[in-house]
Amino acid sequence: MLINLSPTPPDAVMLAARLFAEDPRPHKVNLGIGMYYDEEGRIPQLAAVREADHRLRSRNRPWPYLPAEGLVDLKNKAMPVVFGEDQADDLRRRTAWIQTVGGTGAVRIGAELARAIAPDAMASISDPSWPNHEAIFRAVGARVSSYRYYDVESCDIDVDGMLEDLGRLPRGTVVVLHGCCHNPTGFDPTPAQWNHIAQVLADHGLIPFIDLAYQGFGEGLEADAQSVRIIAQSCNLIFVSVSFSKSFSLYGERVGLLFVVTESEAQAALVGERARAVSRALYSSAPSNGALLIAEVLGDPQLKTTWIDELDAMRRRILLMRAELVDQLAGGNRGANFAPIKAQRGLFSYSGLTRTEIERLRVDHAIHAVGDGRICLAALNAGNLPSVAAAIRQVSSR
Ligand code: LMR
Repeated sequence: MLINLSPTPPDAVMLAARLFAEDPRPHKVNLGIGMYYDEEGRIPQLAAVREADHRLRSRNRPWPYLPAEGLVDLKNKAMPVVFGEDQADDLRRRTAWIQTVGGTGAVRIGAELARAIAPDAMASISDPSWPNHEAIFRAVGARVSSYRYYDVESCDIDVDGMLEDLGRLPRGTVVVLHGCCHNPTGFDPTPAQWNHIAQVLADHGLIPFIDLAYQGFGEGLEADAQSVRIIAQSCNLIFVSVSFSKSFSLYGERVGLLFVVTESEAQAALVGERARAVSRALYSSAPSNGALLIAEVLGDPQLKTTWIDELDAMRRRILLMRAELVDQLAGGNRGANFAPIKAQRGLFSYSGLTRTEIERLRVDHAIHAVGDGRICLAALNAGNLPSVAAAIRQVSSR
């Protein structure tokens, strides 16, 4: 049988992950896909999660299907983390939710719902953004546009450009925002700027879709959710996709949540019903293990404190790596160009390295990053940083 299939262009992040996996060189470094590694270069098993795992195992429970919407305990414990205690109580009644297969699943189900709610709505995505945002919205048949976000000249966030572009979007456009730790640039609006953004979204009848995949890795757990909390005060239809992959170091468990804040309990019921139908047609219900682990941690004040401390330690270690990398690059040809790495937040840096330089890093030095110049700082440690810095100096000196 003839297979009538044209080649599929690879997702840039997944391509970097594949090339890293296939690289046989033992000293290879993975600055591609967004995963946090500890100082020893390992993906950590958080103590809070380990203890939760121990407790769950000792209860010797079976593994039934989760209900179609997912683990209600996870939703109840996660809502205050995302929306804040007080706001979560206010919003609970009019917020639809579904547990999803990772943050990606939350964006996909959210995109499906947005399309069902506003079939003609376009999706507007920051330029640049996580490549999967565009892929997901196109996959559900939405038209996609972009708004200005990053100024290449000044290597900084372009909030004025962003506000101007948002203000020109047709009413009902779904605006995809990164709640914190913008992927790939690492530049986030300040709370004052989020207030402006919320105002423009509300004034122009736009639908915010906040992707919160890195809460805790920017300025801290509470500060990183300010975007959501500010926007929830101004807009009355909001999508929030949440990923716990990074914050609990539970990547393969694929734990995500989608919240849709609506105007009323009746609307929330309709949206929740549709969300369950969408997930049923995709994979029925989300997996249970990671969700149970996270609910156990968030449900126990002591484990929750341990988790918050561990998350903060990861965040602070990345900041140290940022400062150290900038220091070690300072002496090179383009030293000054790398200074913004220190001001960026989250796992990533939009390094300014060109595609050719990224390719040289991979071919000559076994250092893997994303083709657009995004590097994952969370994979650096005292052991590999000097050689990474030396390699960057070398490829950027030609
Ligand atoms: C990333 O951007 O590297 C992560 O969000 C992982 C992914 O799925 O792309």
